[in-house]
Amino acid sequence: MTIISNNDSVHDDVKEILFSQDQINKKVSELGNIITNDYKNKDLLVVGVLKGANIFMSDLIRSINLPLEIDFIVASSYGKSTQSSGVVKIVKDLDYSIEGRDVLIVEDIIDTGLTLNYLMTNFKSRGVNSIKICTLLDKPKRREIELNIDYCGFEIPDVFIVGYGIDFAERYRNLPYLASLKSEIYE
Ligand code: IMP
Ligand code: MG
Repeated sequence: MTIISNNDSVHDDVKEILFSQDQINKKVSELGNIITNDYKNKDLLVVGVLKGANIFMSDLIRSINLPLEIDFIVASSYGKSTQSSGVVKIVKDLDYSIEGRDVLIVEDIIDTGLTLNYLMTNFKSRGVNSIKICTLLDKPKRREIELNIDYCGFEIPDVFIVGYGIDFAERYRNLPYLASLKSEIYE
């Protein structure tokens, strides 16, 4: 295993907190209220993209006051370090059919957009009634493909973010806020 930090506390590796727990809570409950209004009388299935969306989705569904079901998908992107091929492998597929359902995909960050573009096309081919995207963070400057984002928590510049479910090398998902990391962590 690569040792990426010598600090005992995950907080010590943080450079700057971009969004505090309070700011996140407020935003999540705003999104939950909007989604509650939009999905009245629909057949809502919330699909989380693991692992990053785990914490965001857990909070989000508790602020949606509607009958709903949840499912998860695990997707991995091929060749991401060398090139953004947009070829995505579904590592763990949905448990149930989404035919006729009103699917809301929940993602942590949309960067190039290639992962979600693939998932949208894939899900549409399964005969959904409707499909929308809810992302906690959006980096619009990095987009390589046009993607319509229906619900977005925060737009951010091209900085690497961790916390609230989002990782660097599988670490820092347990930070309760969204933050950038000290540069020595990457070196
Ligand atoms: P893309 O939109 O297909 O480029 O992929 C987005 C995915 O890349 C996200 O779901 C994250 O897993 C990862 N990602 C993009 N930006 C960041 C970041 O700032 N921190 C951590 N992971 C990121
Ligand atoms: Mg992700």
